[in-house]
Parts: sequence; structure tokens; C-alpha cells
Amino acid sequence: MDEFAKVIFDGKTFNLPIVTGSEGEKAIDIRMLRQKTGLITYDPGFGSTGSCKSAVTFMDGEKGILRYRGISIEQLAKHSTFVETAYLLINGELPTYSELNKIRVQLNDYSLVHEDMQVFFQNFPRFSNPMGILSTMVNALRSFYPVLDDVEESINSTMLRLLSKVRTLAAMSYKISRGHKVVYPRQDCTYCANFLNMMFDTPVRPYILDEDVVKALNLFWILHADHEQNCSTSAVRVVGSGKVNLYAAISAGICALWGPLHGGANQAVIEMLSDIHKDGGDIDNVVARAKDRNDSFRLMGFGHRVYKTYDPRAIIMKKACDKILSKMKINDPLLDIALKLEEVALKDPYFIDHNLYPNIDFYSGIVLRTIGIPTNMFTVMFAIGRLPGWITQWKESIDDPDWRISRPRQLYTGLKEKKYISIEDRK
Ligand code: CMC
Repeated sequence: MDEFAKVIFDGKTFNLPIVTGSEGEKAIDIRMLRQKTGLITYDPGFGSTGSCKSAVTFMDGEKGILRYRGISIEQLAKHSTFVETAYLLINGELPTYSELNKIRVQLNDYSLVHEDMQVFFQNFPRFSNPMGILSTMVNALRSFYPVLDDVEESINSTMLRLLSKVRTLAAMSYKISRGHKVVYPRQDCTYCANFLNMMFDTPVRPYILDEDVVKALNLFWILHADHEQNCSTSAVRVVGSGKVNLYAAISAGICALWGPLHGGANQAVIEMLSDIHKDGGDIDNVVARAKDRNDSFRLMGFGHRVYKTYDPRAIIMKKACDKILSKMKINDPLLDIALKLEEVALKDPYFIDHNLYPNIDFYSGIVLRTIGIPTNMFTVMFAIGRLPGWITQWKESIDDPDWRISRPRQLYTGLKEKKYISIEDRK
């Protein structure tokens, strides 16, 4: 039976249809609201707004569930690789052997970037932020690799090109920022191993690949691969809705990810833990500051718009953190501080009442540090991981029969009409 929500306004009743998702989630379809009633909705930050229908990722923030294309994040973390997960997201199904081999070969084939792009890198001022560089370079790819005539073929090759080249660009930016020679991708390496080799191999000290480090990176990227309509994915969809090219939409996503409340949180967590360490480990002071309404400080790596329990990715990341630290025989004081901070915060009534739990970024920085990634590259690492999600969501949006250019309304609160006063008469 069709369900409706009733809106009673101005003495009249309007029926708005209820739509139901495959996991039973219900939403009011308000598309006709303004036309029928003259009303718009007001929802800053979009906490109660579904911006699209999507068959990609399912999240249940109350139960701490995350699934890509129906498969739980726990199973993917245990059994999959990043490339396989990217394939799953983009194509909707896990690949067969031959499909997986094909995409591996294609990713290798696309892995080089135009030599002239190095000139761009060389001219960024020293100490430029790698996220700014990455978004610029991704946008610049459009000039180096123009679209093909066949739309479908063009979309497929652009998606593969992005997946492969963003990894090369990220490693190049690191090498150039250090004044080192760029390392080219290798045909004999897997996706993650190739990235590590491009980052850390040098002419004087060959990089020795460690399977556990490769596994840790695979896991890091699987956990970041998609997260439904978060800030950067929404940016990709909104910018993409203007029918801009995919490079520009992804570049917008990278910019959106940059902020400390979103992808930049992994770097902010490490900086916060390092500050606590330098200040002698005063955790109570940090927790007190986070609770103080007059202090803008927040506990980085805590809280989430959707999760009102543990972020399931944080649970997996915490285990990976323990594993990689013990394998590398590293005793990281920041992990001890993180564990103490988590313990204190989780017992504190403020954090309990506000449903604030560690999110993925609380532990991911420690994993990245352990495998040698410099702190200013952390958010770039998140961007590489989120790329399959951005691409998938962009593709879903352009294929959506309900697609329209994104154009929210507003509630105007400014001045009523007033007269223009010529400059001589202004007080
Ligand atoms: N520390 C202290 N208080 C917090 C925190 C925090 N980390 N997060 C939320 N709160 C409080 C906030 O002050 C507010 O309190 P009150 O209702 O008393 O005014 C309440 O909790 C609700 O906060 P909000 O800002 O309305 O929540 P939001 O859903 O808009 O923000 C968030 C979500 C992730 C931006 C926020 O929790 C935050 O700033 N966390 C720290 C940054 C962080 O770790 N970001 C990574 C998110 S996970 C990776 C990703 O997907 O991007």
C-alpha cells in the first residue's frame, strides 16, 4: 500500500509520498513540496536530507554497519584487495579472475603520466600543501588527456586513467617535494606495492617491499574506498551535476576532502597526539578543552555525522594498528596516548551523552606513520582511497533517471528592498 506523509499548512492538507530503500529506510519525497505548498525545507548541513537514491554503499550509523555493494566492510577488509574493492564499487559485482587480471593490466598500462606534468610540479612553491597540488594536477589531466568521441569508452578510460595516475601523481609530488628523482611505476608490482615503491625507492637505497606493509596499505585504502554521501562525495556529485568533466568533479572532491573536519582529520589527529606528547601527556586537559563550549578545540578523530556508535572502520583500523606496530617492532608513544585518550573519553559523560566515538581517523594516522608515510601526505592517502567511491558515485549520478542539476534553495534573511544611494549622499 502506498504510504504518504501529511503536511498541513495554511488550512490545507498535502500528501507527500514515502519512498523506501532496500534496507527499509524511509524518506519523504518532497520534490513536489514547493510546487504544491510554496514551502521549501530548511536543513543546514543536510542532516535530514537524502540528496539522491544510491545503490553503492549502505551505512547504519546506529548499529555501526558499513557495506559496499552489499558486502560488509569486515569481509572486504579480511579477504579483498584495494583493486578488487574498487572494481566492486565501480561495476557493482566482484570481478572474476579474468576481469581482475584485465583491470590490473589496464591500471599498469595507464600508470605513467605525461612528462610535461613534471614541469608543473617543479614550479609549485616549496612547502605547497600536497592536497592543493593533487587537486590542481587532477584538474590538469583534462588538458593532457582530452575526451574521446565514444562517450562510454571515454568514461571507462577516464575512470581507469584516474585510478592509476592519481597514485603516480601522489608519489611524484612527494618525490619532487623532497628534491628527489621521480620513480616510475613498475609493471611487475601490484597497485599498492607500486605506490610504495614510487614513494620510497631511491637510486642509493632500493626499497624492499614488505608484504605486511603492502597489506596494511591495501586495508587502509579498502576502508576509505566509499562512505556514501559525505562532504567530498557530495561535492563530486554537485559539481558533476553541472555536467563538468570527471577530472574537474574529482578535483572538487579532493578540495572538499582537504578540511580538518573531513579527510584532513587523519593529519589533525597525529598533530593533536604529538602536541599531547610534547606537553607531557596531559589527557585530562585535552578532554576538558574538547568539552568547553567556549573553546573551539575538538577532539580530532572523534564523532561522526552518521555513526552514533563505534565507526566500524575504526575497529578494523585499531587492530591493524596493533598488528603493524608489533610486526615492525615499533613502540609508538602516540599509540599509547591514543589508547589512553580513547579510554578517558569513552567514560566521560559528555562523550557518552553526545554519542562521540573514535572514527577511522583516530587510528589511521598511526598506521600511515608506521609504514613511513609523512604526515603532510596523510590526506592525499585518503584521497587515493576515496577515488573509486567518488568515481562510482559520479557515474551513478550521471546515469540517474532522476538526475537534475544540483541547485538548493535558501531562506533569505537579508534586508528588504531598499534604494540605491549615490556616493555623494552616503553618510
Ligand atoms: N570533540 C568534542 N565535541 C564534539 C566533537 C569532537 N570531536 N564532535 C562533535 N562534538 C559535539 C559538538 O560540539 C556538538 O555539541 P553540542 O550539541 O553540545 O553543541 C555535538 O557534539 C554535535 O556536533 P556537530 O558538530 O553538530 O556534529 P556534526 O555531525 O555536524 O559533525 C564531525 C561531525 C565529524 C564534523 C564532528 O564530530 C567533528 O568535528 N569531529 C572531529 C573531526 C573529525 O574527526 N573528523 C573526521 C570524521 S570521519 C572521516 C570522514 O568521513 O571524513
